[in-house]
Order: sequence, then structure tokens, then C-alpha cells
Amino acid sequence: MINRESKQKEFIKQYYEKRIDDLIGKMTLEEKVGQLVQISPSIFGAFGLTFDETIEKLINGEITPAEFEALERNYREDEIRQGTLGCMGGVHGAEKSNELQKIAVEESRLGIPILFGLDVIHGYRTIFPIPLAEACSFDIEKIKESARIAAKEASAAGLHWTFAPMVDISRDPRWGRVAEGAGEDPYLGSVIAKARVEGFQGESLDNPESILACAKHFAGYGAPDGGRDYNTVDMSLQTLHDVYLPPFKAAAEAGVGTFMSAFNDLNGIPCTVNKYLLTDVLREKFGFNGFVVSDANSIPEVVVHGYAEDNKAASKKALNAGLDMDMSQGTYRNELPELVKEGDILEEVLDEAVRRVLRVKFLLGLFDNPYRTDAKKEEKTLLCKEHLEAARDISRRSIVLLKNENNALPLKKDLKKIAVVGPLAENAAEMLGTWSHTGNPSDVVTIISGIKAAVSTETEILYAEGCKITGEECIDFEGAVRVAKESDVIIAVVGENSDMSGEAASRIDINLPGKQEELLKELRKIGKPLIVVLINGRPLTIPWEAENVDALVEAWQLGTQSGNAIADVLFGDYNPSGKLVATFPYSVGQVPIYYNNPMTGRPAGKIKFTSKYIDGPAEPLYPFGFGLSYTTFKYENLSILSAENKIGDTVAVKVYVTNTGEVSGEEVVQLYVSDVVASRVRPVKELKSFEKVLLQPKECKTIIFKLNTKDLGFHDENMNYVVEPGLFKVYVGTNSKECLEGEFTIVALD
Ligand code: GLC
Repeated sequence: MINRESKQKEFIKQYYEKRIDDLIGKMTLEEKVGQLVQISPSIFGAFGLTFDETIEKLINGEITPAEFEALERNYREDEIRQGTLGCMGGVHGAEKSNELQKIAVEESRLGIPILFGLDVIHGYRTIFPIPLAEACSFDIEKIKESARIAAKEASAAGLHWTFAPMVDISRDPRWGRVAEGAGEDPYLGSVIAKARVEGFQGESLDNPESILACAKHFAGYGAPDGGRDYNTVDMSLQTLHDVYLPPFKAAAEAGVGTFMSAFNDLNGIPCTVNKYLLTDVLREKFGFNGFVVSDANSIPEVVVHGYAEDNKAASKKALNAGLDMDMSQGTYRNELPELVKEGDILEEVLDEAVRRVLRVKFLLGLFDNPYRTDAKKEEKTLLCKEHLEAARDISRRSIVLLKNENNALPLKKDLKKIAVVGPLAENAAEMLGTWSHTGNPSDVVTIISGIKAAVSTETEILYAEGCKITGEECIDFEGAVRVAKESDVIIAVVGENSDMSGEAASRIDINLPGKQEELLKELRKIGKPLIVVLINGRPLTIPWEAENVDALVEAWQLGTQSGNAIADVLFGDYNPSGKLVATFPYSVGQVPIYYNNPMTGRPAGKIKFTSKYIDGPAEPLYPFGFGLSYTTFKYENLSILSAENKIGDTVAVKVYVTNTGEVSGEEVVQLYVSDVVASRVRPVKELKSFEKVLLQPKECKTIIFKLNTKDLGFHDENMNYVVEPGLFKVYVGTNSKECLEGEFTIVALD
């Protein structure tokens, strides 16, 4: 029996499809191509320069971002009026977007509304933790809420579309964009991809507070050779489908409205013109029915890849592969009309791409409600109290406690003197992290401000920068040592600046930059409790710190509420619960290093002829899933409620977890599985479920996982997804290394 709701949906679908047919029937070729174009406002040449020269100076730092933002822009009103510009990037602000939308809707021939898109990666004005940090919270509902708040603020500012979530799996912390994703695990990456899509898009896209999401970068972008951004990617189709595609599949199943093709080539074919990816996998296998946008300029870059002679050939390959919209300075607009007129591209192929874009605009409700916000709504929504409170909560949940010895933490709030030193202690801008250009450093609670707000009025906070984040100049170790000697405890805040991760920010070494480690060594000599707070956008190689400091707090880049969140953890107002979602190598020489490594014939061991290094450990510094608490947890009595199972059965796994400490705390109980013998070598273990539980002191909880055996498969040598009978081991624990073990078998169907 079809229920009323699905009948309604069906009617709306038919109604939209009819309106789309009518529109396409009226559109000229130029108007059709205009719907497949996303262009940003151009910038009048500043300082007597051309646009490109202006960008060059910005990249070289000769023009500050503020100067760049202040430059006068050409908003391309004529192109909008002519109906040859269907989408704009880089336009935000309720008034400006309404002004341009009015031209499109009321002055162009067919009144097709414009789509305004922007990178709202971890917040619009209220900036949330970088996505890598949020993933460490393992708090799926909070992650979804964070995306929802970003959508509310972005839509209030006139935006319809965010180029997020970035769902690229990465096993290489040299790659700067690891900051934007959810780490190295396909299962966690899939759960978070779904949550972020649902957060951005809400229950329904035509809710004025919802924005279109975009699963990017499709695909394999997180596995560039050498960890160097944009570099070539080569992997087996099995690895592609078992490791890198699951989060994209999850995003498609969650109803994501758009995908973005990746810059890289995959096995020799640039993703932007890769029919296997954009049509065979995305449309036919995943059932995706939104539209695909290229990454910036990636269509003309197909020529640079050496995969097309010129932009015309690249455009033809891209559209025929399934690339619907061109994010660039107009390649499709320059090339497609002639390709269609010459018959090199069938007009029905063009029409299908136009249909996909128009369908999304209808689903957003833009035809019936093109003006979704106004200046008053924008003013009321951005940075409101509820958003700041939510940001503080997810921020402290994203913090990972890596070390806590000699009862260093939590600190008392009535200490007489606290030294807060280091180049990131009172820095605001770097707390925002990568992709936070719509945020404002003046909104940020710095770490020193957060600490001051947390302690008693009698406590004196002494500050010294000590050194810069990078470089060798402005070293003032003496000043830092002086304030440290006067104090009861030393909090040193060190790490990276925000443009050392994110796009085009691969690092050849991933240690603390500059002279920061030398500063810590000077502070260590004083012999007072030394607490190090890390502000960074990727795993770092910090073996000396791990060995020598009393407490090590991974605080990532937490955004607007950084200082309050970090103070909440340092002074015990929140018991840290974060777990690492990306392995911390002992040395960059170990990279790529990740927990779900395929089984080797000679696992690293004590004897010589095993898979290890002769000059360092094979084990990471901190493994996937690692994170401490101010309390302790005990795992016992792991049991599998059915030893023999058939494919399709649900296997129940039970464990008891007790809080054996004196304070309440949250624990991320993790469940891993390993397929002991299979027709392809399988990982030593794979995360298949987790549950975050709050336990009061001495409280014991029974955790029961329900494993669907269908989720225990992989792609075999013929690229079939298979679940093979045999022995499976189960690991349940507090991280990927410390687990209780159990096992069960899957028996062959008769
Ligand atoms: C960039 C990024 C992509 C972003 C786009 C628009 O080059 O690769 O993630 O969404 O351009 O800014």
C-alpha cells in the first residue's frame, strides 16, 4: 500500500519533471550551457594588474587576504541577465545574493534562479573544529548537529550549496588535506559522511535552512603518490572499492545532492573525465541522481594531464563521462556550444546534464522561493548563543588526551601561578584551521583567554611566546623560561599554523615546525609539570614529546570556541573522550602507516627476517582509536552469542565495560573484525562498529553489538562483493591495539 507521503513525493517528482521538460524545450543552446557553468565574481585588476597577476600576488603573500577581499568585484550582472550563468561561487551575504537572484529571476528571459555555492567546510561564521578533529569525537549526532548549524548560518547568508563533506580516506599525514576528512577508516568515514550530508541537507532540501551538500573529491584523492597534493593515484580496483569508495557510497545513499570530481588521475585517467567513476560507479552502481561538478579548473587541467589536446577535447570527454557542471572561469561555456553545433556532442547528453542541475534547483525550492533569507535573518542567525554553545561542546569532545602522567591533569583552578607559553597560546587566527575564510579571528576565544576565564581570580597567568611557529627568528626562550620558573605549572601551546594543512599544503616532514621542540626541551629542564597542548591539522611525529612531557593534549584546530573547550579539558570541567581517527607515526619514514594493514607473510617481530625497519620501530607512536581519559575503563567477558552463522545472519557480540576510576567519563567502545582466511589477503582487523557510552564511577554497562555478516565482505579478484565462509576473529576494546578477542564462523549456505 503506497502511503500518502510517497504518493505526494511521486506527484511532486512528476510535477517537477514536467516543468523541467517545459523549460528545456524553451532554452537556447547558450542558456542550456549557462546552467552547466559555475563562475565566481571576477576581480577588477587591482594595483593595475590582471586577474591572474592579482591571484599570483595573493598566493605569494604580497596581497593580504583582507586586501583581496576588499578588492572591487564584477558580479557579472549582464551574464546573469542573459541567462548564461546558472551558478556562482564565492558570493555570500543575504543582500548581495538576493540582489543577484532578483536579476536572474525577474530580468532574465526564463527566470531560472541562480545557485550560490561556497566552501562551508566546518562552519560558516561560527567555526567548528576541523573535520579531522570532529571525527575524533566519535559523536555522530554532534557531528550532524555541527553540519546543521553550518547549514543554518550559510543559508541565512544567502548560500544554497556547500562543497562539503570532504570524504576522502587518507593514510598519509604528509598530505595536508587529511585535515578536511574523517581519517583513515572506511567504516567511520562512511558513518560520518552520512551524518554530515544529513546535517547539511536536513529532512528536506526545500527547507530554507537546508543547503545542498557535495561529496568530494571523487575519487581516490587522499592517496597521492608521496603524499603530495594533486599527484597521481594508482591502486587496484579492489582497494578503491574496499577502502576509498565506501564513504562516497554512504553519501550517495544518504541522498547527497552533488558530487565533485577530484583533481587527480586514477590509474591513468583523470577523475574529471573518468566515465568508469562518474557513470559506471556513481550512477549505475551507487544510483546517484544529482549532478557532478568539477573541482576548480580541473576540466582545462585534463590538457595539462596530457589526456586531451585542448579545452575543446577536454570538455567533450568530461561531459560524455558524466561531468555535469564546470567550476572554472568558463571552459564549458566557451567550448560546449560549438561541440553541440558540430554534432561532436549529442544535444540529449547536454540536456541530461541540464536536467540534473534544474532538478536540484527545484528540490531546493528555488523556483518557488528564490529569496530564502534577508539581512535581518542573517544578523540573528550568525554566531548566536546556541551555535557557540554547540561549538564549545563538540570542540571539547574532539580533544584527544595522548598522555597524562604524574597526575599532571586535570589542573586545579586555584593554582597560584600558571605559565602559558608558546607561539599558539594567544593566537586567534590559527585556531580557525584550514577552510575557515568566512570565520573571523576576532570571534575566537584564544587559549590564554579560555584559561583565564576558567581559573580563580587569585590565579596569576604568566605568558611568553618563546618562539614563532616556524623559522628561527624572534626566539625568546629566556622569556619563556623566566615565566615558567616563577610558576607552579607550565602549559606550552605549540603546533602548526592553519595554512600548513589543507589544500596544497603537503609537508615533507611532519614534526613540530621551527624551534618549538627546542623550546619544549628548555622548559623540560626546569623540572616543573609540563603540559603540552598541540594545535595542528594532521598527525605529527612527536616521539620526544611523547617520551618527555607530563601530559600531551591533542587539540587540533577547534575554531571559534578553542580556548573555552581546551580550558574545559585542562581543568577537568570536561573529561576528554576523543579517540584518534588517523595513526600518529613514530617517524615520517613509516608513512603510509595505518591500523587496518593487510596481513603480511612476515608480520613485524623480533627476529630479523620480518616486516620491520632496522633503524626504528614498525609500530606507530599512537594507533588508530587511541585516546585516554581522566578515569580508567575495564573490559571483560567478551562473548559471541552465536558461534556458527550463515551469510545474512546477525551476530551479537557482548562485552562488559566498567568505569574503574573516581570520575565519570565517556568511552568509545570499538569493535573490529578480521577475516582469518579469504580469497584475497585481508586486513589484520577492520573497524565494524563502535558505541560511545557515559559511565559513572564504578558503573558497569553491558554493550551489545549487532554485526550483520553481510558487512564482512570485500571485492574479490573478479570485483564481486563477496562474504566468504570461514573463521572470523572479533576484537573489542579501547583502541585498535588493546582489545579482548573472540571468534565465530560463517558457514557456507547449503
Ligand atoms: C578547491 C578544492 C575544493 C574546493 C574548490 C572550491 O581547489 O580542491 O575542495 O571545494 O576548489 O573552492
